[in-house]
Amino acid sequence: MRIYLDNAATTPLDPTVFEAMKPFMLEDFGNPSSTHAHGRKVRAAIESARKKIAELLNCTPGEIIFTSGGTEADNSILASGLQTYGVQTLISSPIEHHAVEHTLQILAAQRKIALRMVNLDEKGHVDIGHLEVLLQENPRALVSLMHANNEVGNLLDIDRVGQLCDQYGAYFHSDTVQTMGHYRHNLGALKVHGIAAAAHKFHGPKGVGFMFIRKDKKIQPFIHGGAQERNMRGGTENVYGIVGLAKALEIAYRDMDDHKKHIEQLKASMIGQLKEQVPGVTFHGDSDNLNRSLYTVLNVSLPESEENDMMLFNLDLQGISASGGSACSSGATTGSHVLGALYPDSRRGAIRFSFSKYNTQEDVDVAVKKLAELVKVPA
Ligand SMILES: Cc1ncc(COP(=O)(O)O)c(C=O)c1O
Repeated sequence: MRIYLDNAATTPLDPTVFEAMKPFMLEDFGNPSSTHAHGRKVRAAIESARKKIAELLNCTPGEIIFTSGGTEADNSILASGLQTYGVQTLISSPIEHHAVEHTLQILAAQRKIALRMVNLDEKGHVDIGHLEVLLQENPRALVSLMHANNEVGNLLDIDRVGQLCDQYGAYFHSDTVQTMGHYRHNLGALKVHGIAAAAHKFHGPKGVGFMFIRKDKKIQPFIHGGAQERNMRGGTENVYGIVGLAKALEIAYRDMDDHKKHIEQLKASMIGQLKEQVPGVTFHGDSDNLNRSLYTVLNVSLPESEENDMMLFNLDLQGISASGGSACSSGATTGSHVLGALYPDSRRGAIRFSFSKYNTQEDVDVAVKKLAELVKVPA
């Protein structure tokens, strides 16, 4: 039996979610824009999904816009937000997901505006003091900082950043793809203008997500076409995806406390066992700090060696699916831009283990045992 420890990449679909989606793949196939009965039934399902999500996140249904996933949500909020609000400066960090990083680079080049990077501390957390300086120096800024980093798990103090952005009149976008369904978002209180989510990160289907756009900060559509999504996103809706998304979020919220506790125990156990069994092991970012990192992610740093560079491949051969990334200081074209930004001179190996509600203590025990057997500790 293979062990799946790559849940930050994607999570398995919850069978209950699949059951909720099934009717919309078969009998309820109408186009939600059709005004006849077939269409109306499906439209009602979409609106009920929107209402459910809005209830869970404490916002209004009109503030939820369905997309094809996290990437489209990030692109839409950034590109359209920038255009609608006449933004003059972009402020972000060097460890954002490519859905944000590449989008900002392209927008800055196209519009000939500055893209300023906030400093990170030695653990990879945003330097809030420096962010404030950037906000003071740059009126009409758009700030994009992710709630949790998908590689090292570092958590942003999103409330604090939201307050600062509000104080300086900046437009604030946060990529919440890794925290949606794992933490409770209170969008009624949080001072954020746009956030992004993808259903497949919390046991929903792939290819569907949503963006929240605060109603007093409406933006122009990014994808032009029909009047779907209240004129905010053209294209026939991914109906069964949307139904699955809402079901997955509902389950995630219902069971969140239990799952969080279970996964935190797995992560703590893995940290403890690795420290005991693998000489020279450390952790990237603030990954081993249970209070300031995503409980689903642990990024393990292995001593530099050729064997350890092959660890991901060897774990795969041993039946364990995890993910990797190296600091890429050798100038190779592959590698993680996140680890490259945090550890420019490091050549240590990196393995990201990421957990879900379906993982067991045995998964962790086996993964640590295999890693301990495979690891090469330089003399
Ligand atoms: C932090 C973050 N943002 C954005 C995305 C992109 O989401 P999607 O692949 O659903 O477009 C991901 C997915 O890996 C992610 O982890």
